[in-house]
Amino acid sequence: MVLPENIDEIICDPRTYGDEEAYHRAFAALRENDPVHWAEPRAYRPFWAVTRHEDIQRVEMDAAHFANEPRQFLVTKTDEEMLLMTTGSRNFAYNLVAMDNPDHRQYRGLTASWFGPKQVRALEEEIRHLARETVDKLIETGSPCDFAKDIAAWYPLRTIMLVLGVPREDEPMMLALSQKVFGSTDVDTGGGDGMTSMMEAKTEFCAYFDKLTADRRQNPRNDVATLLATAMINDEPMQEGPRNDYYLIVAAAGHDTTSSAISGGLLALLRNPGELQKLRENRDLLPNAIEEFIRWTTPVKHFFRTALADCEVGGKAIAKGDALMMCYPSANRDTAVFEDPFAFRIDRPEAKKHLAFGYGPHTCLGNNLAKLEIRLLFEEILDRIDTIELAGDPAWIEANFVSGLKRLPIAFSAR
Ligand code: HEM
Repeated sequence: MVLPENIDEIICDPRTYGDEEAYHRAFAALRENDPVHWAEPRAYRPFWAVTRHEDIQRVEMDAAHFANEPRQFLVTKTDEEMLLMTTGSRNFAYNLVAMDNPDHRQYRGLTASWFGPKQVRALEEEIRHLARETVDKLIETGSPCDFAKDIAAWYPLRTIMLVLGVPREDEPMMLALSQKVFGSTDVDTGGGDGMTSMMEAKTEFCAYFDKLTADRRQNPRNDVATLLATAMINDEPMQEGPRNDYYLIVAAAGHDTTSSAISGGLLALLRNPGELQKLRENRDLLPNAIEEFIRWTTPVKHFFRTALADCEVGGKAIAKGDALMMCYPSANRDTAVFEDPFAFRIDRPEAKKHLAFGYGPHTCLGNNLAKLEIRLLFEEILDRIDTIELAGDPAWIEANFVSGLKRLPIAFSAR
C-alpha cells in the first residue's frame, strides 16, 4: 500500500472521519510505510502520528516521559491563537485529560469512587430501567426510524445525567451543547464553525454548572454534582475553573462516545447477520461482543502526549517537546495484535486488547459505566426486538476527535 502524498492533511481532515474506509485506509498505509510519522499539516502544529498498537501502549503507560499537558487533541493553529488571546491558554479546558501528576492523581481520585467496577454495578438496576425505557421509546417511535439520532443519542446521555444528578428536562440542552463541543466541525451536529462553536457551548455549560453547584451546596444529594460542588483540593474548595471543566468532561465525554459504540455496534451486527445470530443463540457472548463493538467503532480518534525528554518511539528519534498523536482506530486494526482485524467477530478472543479506552493512568474513567450501559441496552434489544435490518444509508459525523454514526436508518419488528 502506497502512502498518499497528502497523508498529513488526510488524517487531520474532519471529512476523513465521515468515511470509515477513508480513515482506516490512511492508517493502514501509515502502519505499513511509516508507523511513527512526522506530520506537518497546513492548519495544525506538527506532530508525530503514532499508529502501531505497541507504540501507543508504550507511550500511554509512560506518563513520566510523555505528558498530557500542553496538547490534548487536534486544534487548528488559528483556533489555538484565538484560545490564547481569549483565555490565556491554548487548552480548551483544564480537566483530567489535560492534567499530569500530581494534579491528575488528586482530581481523578475524587470521582474514582463513582466509576470503579463495583460502584458501577450498584447502578445496574437504575440503568436497566433506562435501557427498558429506551426500547419502549424505540417501539413507540416505530419502524422505520433513525436509531442513531432518535435512540442511541439519548440513552447514554440519560445515564450520565443520572450519575451527575441533572434533571431530565435539561437533557436536550445538554445533548445540544455536548454535540457542539465534540461534533463542532460537522454541519449537521455541531454547527460547523469549530472552536467558536466549542467556546460558545463551554460558556453555556459553565453558566449551567455554576447554578448546579450553588444548588448542591444548599441541597446535597447522592450524585456526582454534589461531590464536585463540595470537593476539596489541597484542603481548599475546588476552584471554579477546574470544577466546571470537570463537570464538562463527565457530562460531555460520557455520551457521544458511548452512543457511537452502540450505533456502530448495531450497524456491524446488521452488516454481519451471522454474528447477530451467534449472539441471539448465546447470550454469554455479549460481554466479549461489547469489547468488539468498541474495538470496531473506536469512537475517540486520538489523544496527544508531549515528550518530556529526547527519546525514541518505534525507531524514530523524538525530541523533547514534540507532540505525539495516539491514533486509536489504527491500533485497533493492527495485525500484530488482532487476527484479520477488518473482520467483525463478536467472539474474537483478543477483542479486549483494543485501545479505544486509551491505556495507562489516563485510561477512560467511564469505561466500566460505558460497558454496563451497552450490555443492558443490547440485552433489552435482544429480548424485545424480533427482527432488525438496515433501512437506508448510514452516515458518520465529520469530526476528527470524537466521531461515530449520526444517521442509522433501521426497520424492525417487536416481539
Ligand atoms: C465507549 C465509550 C467511551 C470511549 C470509547 C471513551 C474513550 C476514552 C479515551 C480514549 C480516553 C483517553 C484515555 C487515555 O488518554 O489514555 C478517555 C478518557 C476519559 N473518559 Fe472516556 N470513553 C467512553 C465513555 C466514557 C464515559 C461513559 C465517561 C463517563 C464518565 C467517560 C469519561 C472519561 C473521562 C473523565 C476521561 C479522562 C480520564 C483521565 O484523563 O484520567 N468516558 N475516554
